[in-house]
Amino acid sequence: MNNITITTAAKIDDKAPLVIIGGKKTKWQNFGLTKNEVDYLKEILKGDEKNTAIPSLHRLIYIITEPGKDTAYQDYEKYRVAGNKTTSLLNNAKKTEVYITGDITDEKAYLAFAEGMALGNYQFLKYKKENKEKNSLQNIYIVNDKIKKQDVEFVNISVDAVSIARTLVNEPVSFLDAVQLTKEFEKLAKDSGVKIEIFNKAKIESMKFGGLLAVNRGSQTPPTFTILEYKPAKPVNKNPIILVGKGVVYDTGGLSLKPTPNSMDTMKCDMAGAAVAACTIYAAAKLKLPVHIISLIPATDNRPGENAYTPGDVIKMHSGLNVEVLNTDAEGRMILADALSYAKKFNPELVMDFATLTGAAAAAIGPKGIVYMGNATDNIKNALEQSGNNVYERLVEFPMWDEYKDLIKSDIADIKNIGGPVAGAITAGKFLEYFVDYPWLHFDIAGGAFINSADSYRGKGGTGIGIRLVLDYLKNYGSRK
Ligand code: BES
Ligand code: ZN
Ligand code: ZN
Repeated sequence: MNNITITTAAKIDDKAPLVIIGGKKTKWQNFGLTKNEVDYLKEILKGDEKNTAIPSLHRLIYIITEPGKDTAYQDYEKYRVAGNKTTSLLNNAKKTEVYITGDITDEKAYLAFAEGMALGNYQFLKYKKENKEKNSLQNIYIVNDKIKKQDVEFVNISVDAVSIARTLVNEPVSFLDAVQLTKEFEKLAKDSGVKIEIFNKAKIESMKFGGLLAVNRGSQTPPTFTILEYKPAKPVNKNPIILVGKGVVYDTGGLSLKPTPNSMDTMKCDMAGAAVAACTIYAAAKLKLPVHIISLIPATDNRPGENAYTPGDVIKMHSGLNVEVLNTDAEGRMILADALSYAKKFNPELVMDFATLTGAAAAAIGPKGIVYMGNATDNIKNALEQSGNNVYERLVEFPMWDEYKDLIKSDIADIKNIGGPVAGAITAGKFLEYFVDYPWLHFDIAGGAFINSADSYRGKGGTGIGIRLVLDYLKNYGSRK
């Protein structure tokens, strides 16, 4: 659960910390500041300070931020970042609550600020014996009568879903193996009313999920395949939207072993796509969005155990296609392919897969955004790009030109599971394309799913990237169709 709650309040509490969001023309004395405080503030604001948090001597914290006339999406991000800074200040001062008010008219700014505060308050302390570092902040009150309860609820649930995903990503495989992952999904399903079905190894064998079984062969733990479904009473979509998530609970590379420390150390994050698929449907159900959604999550670890699949193997996939494996470290596409071809039976309106799929995607754009590609309409792509900007999980579309297909031709099978030395993120996408026959988008979150140093409210470790993106997209889904 999220450890912090945002609520609206009718008035500020004189004894509690206060944040005032204003601009150059703000009459600070109207918010109950003393003359000394106002003079001090004016002095500071003479300088270049804009999006900055200034702690004062006792209970007050002033925030000044000056977006342009029409608030641009970059400005909302500045509010989130300022919110995160304020969270640090309040936690350092061991404060448990804060009131946010101000005279700027854009109510989305207050929500963005509170969102940045709440996201920045996340911690993963399960394995710390001493809990001295635990954040004190628990309650954020927004004092602004224009803010709707349901918008506050959206932020709370979204932050909660992101926090759960971050914890799942931060959990090591010593706890979170493919079976434990399904137990976590069961908890989420129970908590949100989402329907859940879990395929065990015998069922996965009977379903002929050849890709998932191949990757699992070097493992001591059986694979799992989870289906989550949220179907509201009157969905705006006739056919479901499907979220597919890569659930590689640990990626050693298999026999094509990864070197450590460079590239294996953080590979507990290789189920970040699974976390997106599960936590997004969880949040959508809690928010009661009028959208029928299904999540499909194949899960296993990828290890070089004695029966491990090998470079040179040919694997018959769930779709019937034969894949020549030339690198066992390209395992994500093997398990996703089975989920994608299985998705056909639901006759989906749109399938979006989320995966920490390639180092190439991470190398191309780094942690700040998401590489995506696929055959969905420009309308869908534009709406998603807009959502990417709204939540600052920005999308970069990669091309899927026909010529890339040549790079995954196999000498002896239908296709091979790696391309050449170039265009690695795209050849992974072209591989997946073989298994879809519906509107589809592939999101490669390898760059941003796990970060080694904090980036404002996206702290160190798992980030939950992808969830806020899809929730923003789904929020407007009905009205957009
Ligand atoms: N899980 C990795 C990709 C990855 C890299 C995720 C960095 C997060 C951060 C994936 O399974 C992988 O190993 N991909 C290979 C594919 C290659 C063998 C074709 C890669 O990107 O090197
Ligand atoms: Zn791999
Ligand atoms: Zn992987």
